[in-house]
Amino acid sequence: MTDTPTVPPTGRAFDVEHVLAGLTLEEKASLLSGLDFWTTQPVDRPEVAVPGVMVTDGPHGLRKQADSPDHLGLGTSVPATCFPTAATLGSTWDPDLLRRIGAALGRETRANDVAVLLGPGINIKRSPLNGRNFEYLSEDPVISGELGTALVEGVQSQGVGTSLKHFAANNQEADRMRVSADVDERTLREIYLPGFERVVKRAQPWTVMCSYNRINGVYASQNHWLLTEVLRDEWGFEGLVVSDWGAVRDRVAAVAAGLDLEMPASGGRRDAEVVAAVREGRLAQDVVDVAARRVLRMVARALPALDAPGTYDADAHHALAREAAAAGTVLLKNDVVPGPAGAHGAPLLPLATPADVAVVGELARTPRYQGAGSSQVNPTRLDDALSALRATTGADVPFAAGYTVDGADLGSGTDEAALRAQAVEVARDAGTVLVFLGLPASYESEGFDRTHLHLPAGQVALLEAVSAVNPRVVVVLANGSAVAVAPWQHLAPGLVEGWLGGQAGGSGVVDVLLGAVNPAGRLAETLPLRLADTPSYGNFPGELGHVRYGEGVLVGYRWYDARQADVAYPFGHGLSYTTFAYDGVAAEVLRPATADAGAVVRVRARVTNTGGRAGAEVVQVYVGDPAAQVLRPERELKAFAKVDLAPGESRELVFDLSGRDLAYWHPVLRRWVVEGGEFVVSVGASSRDLRGAVTVQVDGEDVRLPLGPLSTVAEAMTHPVVGPRVEAMVHGGGVAEDMLGMIGDMPLTVVADFGMGGFDQDALAALLAEADG
Ligand code: BGC
Repeated sequence: MTDTPTVPPTGRAFDVEHVLAGLTLEEKASLLSGLDFWTTQPVDRPEVAVPGVMVTDGPHGLRKQADSPDHLGLGTSVPATCFPTAATLGSTWDPDLLRRIGAALGRETRANDVAVLLGPGINIKRSPLNGRNFEYLSEDPVISGELGTALVEGVQSQGVGTSLKHFAANNQEADRMRVSADVDERTLREIYLPGFERVVKRAQPWTVMCSYNRINGVYASQNHWLLTEVLRDEWGFEGLVVSDWGAVRDRVAAVAAGLDLEMPASGGRRDAEVVAAVREGRLAQDVVDVAARRVLRMVARALPALDAPGTYDADAHHALAREAAAAGTVLLKNDVVPGPAGAHGAPLLPLATPADVAVVGELARTPRYQGAGSSQVNPTRLDDALSALRATTGADVPFAAGYTVDGADLGSGTDEAALRAQAVEVARDAGTVLVFLGLPASYESEGFDRTHLHLPAGQVALLEAVSAVNPRVVVVLANGSAVAVAPWQHLAPGLVEGWLGGQAGGSGVVDVLLGAVNPAGRLAETLPLRLADTPSYGNFPGELGHVRYGEGVLVGYRWYDARQADVAYPFGHGLSYTTFAYDGVAAEVLRPATADAGAVVRVRARVTNTGGRAGAEVVQVYVGDPAAQVLRPERELKAFAKVDLAPGESRELVFDLSGRDLAYWHPVLRRWVVEGGEFVVSVGASSRDLRGAVTVQVDGEDVRLPLGPLSTVAEAMTHPVVGPRVEAMVHGGGVAEDMLGMIGDMPLTVVADFGMGGFDQDALAALLAEADG
């Protein structure tokens, strides 16, 4: 194991192998579950002293509970910086920023005597309805993997660990503790696993947390294929697998499958089951030793930092949270609004004259900045947009609540209609009206899913009322996952997606509105027009204990592109206050491709800031494989780079695509293959705003299955050795042109049974022998 603590060993250090050799079976088994909700089991006797260490949530801030422990975010926790949720962080497309946030999270973790922060969560956003999407980064595995890697590297740079979660196929909250995600292997390999694979291979998280759900019928916690064959044997994971809290149904099966640590405590009962299984020969002693060794290594690895906890600068972390909130804010729309008669029109943002702005919407005053559940942080401070706007501009910005969030008590004589009427008066004469809308906490949370994509009706009614008296409206959204903007966005020439931006979300979004920060956030999830358009519609959240991943690899933008469906805003979209031009898009093939080959295609593109402001562009590289033996998505994100450019500045970017970037998972051969042929490499500003495309010819594998009795005539005709003979037989046998399709689809053994054209089972056996030879 590559143990590289960033601080020197201290007095509590111990030698893992020495300790392990001296432990009884009971002690080893006890190490494999928690002491309590948040602490690992110590071993405490005169000859051996292994401390217990604390692990806590995660992912976007530390949730260390002082008392009344629970894993649902109910009990209070120590103050900690509430960084933006993953929904916002995903939209930054900025690994460097996430590495800095990770380091800040690591400092807070360490300063609070915690060994492992339980995050990041990198599950794929399969449906916008998932109540926990705010904790996940993207609908795309490259984004999830790249940003997840950066977070893990950042946290672990501080000598504390991470827990990459929830492994795997935990893409909904409905029935999450039992449901079987029924998903074919190709889809797992191409969509749901590669984010985890990338983070594991590049950053070696100290721990991986297995999910609650079953995968094709087998609980993740008991899934040997997942936890041992894929995670360790294929990907080389060196750390420890911990269960999600309460995810273990059969502890002995779980240990045998590769689960090392069950959390939280099981009161010793489950440990006794492990001991009994070893004594009765149902579980190998070796397996217990390996798991105990992994727990001991994790503890040993954590001690140096725990013995030198250090401090952190809460103000600096708040400033970083603000930077991140602004960076993850996505300017969806900034239409030109007609000026007064005769004057040129202009977009409403950035706010040209902040002094004549009015703000409506309770969420501007009472921000919704994080999601509910185990990730809920007790923030060190809290910025709301209204105060931030007033403080930054010095103006006494008029405000009206317009609606209540989550049914707050309005007091006597006031109702929602009255609130709306007040808002209309505040908005009527303003130069620009900022309308803050979003999802109430009761709409989305860990533990349950949404049932629709709509904002509360009262909020939409407010927007309608305000825009009727003043069309100069900018809507600012707060929500943990996509909402349907189509029903009302025509009422707002400006639209800003702030997600759940953490404790500095209010000030961060104001930085964007005022232009102090030029927006550079990009959508890491598609905003669909309607729920019925979404890829998993009809297959989400499943029923009777099963959820069928019927859309296969067509998740997120892959689905909308395959169906040529309109969307509200595409994956990768986000506007800026400047403009960018692309040119010089080129692609060059460097070598023939196998799935494990390094750089295979070199892509170049130049991007220029053609506007008047400094800004950052996110250059996105997509790859498509138009002809393959399997259905492939129209295009898939394979690389991206965020570049800061001064006005007029140009930069040439170079991306190397590997064999794996071109490969698909072959469901029969059960490995990655690059099928040779044409690939289309596109470079653009979003998945639907491609600025250049190049077709390259790549030498790949000649992917073919071995010929057998069930191979079809058409398949046999393409065989390099016997193909020409089969073709001659077909054509020589006088098969009419219009019958070729039917014959071509027939298995060889059926043709042989019919004895067509003298081709019988003996002839088939000879043919197959020749093909193999
Ligand atoms: C959540 C995990 C969390 C754990 C501990 C579980 O319910 O799914 O993400 O880390 O509780 O709070």
